Amino acid sequence: MLSRWRRTADSEGQVVLLSGDAGIGKSRLVQSTRDRIGAEVAVLRYQCSPLHQDTALFPVIQQLMKSIGLVGEQSIADKLAKAQQWLQMGGLDVAEHLPLVCHLLQIKSPEHRLPDASPHQIRDRLVALLSTQFMNLTKFGPVLAIVEDVQWIDPTMENLLIDVLGSIEHAQAMILATNRDAFSPRWHVAGYTTNLRLERLSGADSRRLIQAIAGNRLSRICRPASRRAPRACRSISRN
Ligand SMILES: Nc1ncnc2c1ncn2[C@@H]1O[C@H](COP(=O)(O)OP(=O)(O)O)[C@@H](O)[C@H]1O
Ligand SMILES: [Mg+2]
Repeated sequence: MLSRWRRTADSEGQVVLLSGDAGIGKSRLVQSTRDRIGAEVAVLRYQCSPLHQDTALFPVIQQLMKSIGLVGEQSIADKLAKAQQWLQMGGLDVAEHLPLVCHLLQIKSPEHRLPDASPHQIRDRLVALLSTQFMNLTKFGPVLAIVEDVQWIDPTMENLLIDVLGSIEHAQAMILATNRDAFSPRWHVAGYTTNLRLERLSGADSRRLIQAIAGNRLSRICRPASRRAPRACRSISRN
């Protein structure tokens, strides 16, 4: 992952797809990669959630609310000023896009209502806006976008990422995504994608791990074949 990041810093966009069972260590690897690439890098984190698979763009909404500071009680004027600043940061036209951002972030400003449009049209416009904003940010320096737990992604968020992937080769950006399942072929950009799969531990590695944690407390007589766990195992399972 670090070698892919070095390519990104040389202006060659990368996609790293990390898959493996729950608890195998995907997030830990992502975090240690993040820790090693330097504090000055722009890092955007998108966390998919099993509770919000039906909420369009949920990971982006959460990320934006946090990064532009919309968490907690605030006046509408304060929220508008922050949304406006965010648009300006990416060089986007404020008058044109503010109503869309208000809609996305639920900023209830009567002067910034969206003109009538179908939900489908609104989603398409949001994907286009967010994709452009992302690409604009990569012009200021390398960006690491972490997308965690793609098994729970909502379809609009996935469309947004696929849109971004379409231009990744020209962007100073690395998309680092984790997934319990294999990634769909839509995520693969020929020549720019690295697939990493964390396999389950072998029996021997599992035994070494358990031994390292339990040490002498683990009795040699503790075998899976025994119908009722012997005393030594019972005392371990209570701890
Ligand atoms: N290399 C490692 N050494 C020690 N603990 C680890 C290691 N990798 C993962 N863990 C721990 O295992 C647990 C599950 O790891 P996590 O990265 O959250 O898995 P995943 O994201 O694949 O579900 C966490 O508590 C994590 O700190
Ligand atoms: Mg994880």
